[in-house]
Amino acid sequence: MIVFLIGFMGCGKSTVARGLAQCSGWEQIDLDQRVCQDVGVDTVAEIFATLGEAEFRRLERKAIESLPTEGNLIVATGGGAPCVGDNMELLVSKGITVYLKMSAEALSERLQHVRVVRPKIVGKSPEELYDYVATLLAEREPYYSRARVIVDCDGISSRVVVGRLKYLVKSAPCGRFSHQTSESEFLTYAK
Ligand code: S3P
Repeated sequence: MIVFLIGFMGCGKSTVARGLAQCSGWEQIDLDQRVCQDVGVDTVAEIFATLGEAEFRRLERKAIESLPTEGNLIVATGGGAPCVGDNMELLVSKGITVYLKMSAEALSERLQHVRVVRPKIVGKSPEELYDYVATLLAEREPYYSRARVIVDCDGISSRVVVGRLKYLVKSAPCGRFSHQTSESEFLTYAK
């Protein structure tokens, strides 16, 4: 079973993936890091600068396709991954998709501190950043909201998010949850 964490840059996917892996013993991978390893560079920014975003998206798709279907795995996806072509269909068909939902206000506040390492927001002023996040989030929301499970993350720490989601990873191996589990069914256990 694969659990895909999806959502905008800065919503906490990588932190939550690490926390879930720690409390479940599942393996976790970061899709951006996987793509970087495949190319042999350290950062996504280097791929954007040398190969361009279109090539990054092609490699990102290839990395999703090559994920193993056996075993238990938590995958932190890049913020744009579900919003390109039919990637979201692929994610939904391969595992349980979990959207870590956050408002543009909360996201732009969090992203102020990590602008440098993210090629899509590097160099933006706080005002430009907010406008950019609000516009792109509105474009991406239709993709994200097709996730099986949606966790409202505004005002709660990654630790609390992990606490809610650990039911998902603990129950999946015994077959209680699958990629076809409805959100309401999941939430019955997650309370
Ligand atoms: C991107 C998000 C990044 C990374 C790339 C593009 C996006 O991942 O994949 O810089 O388009 O939103 P994070 O969401 O982990 O920052």
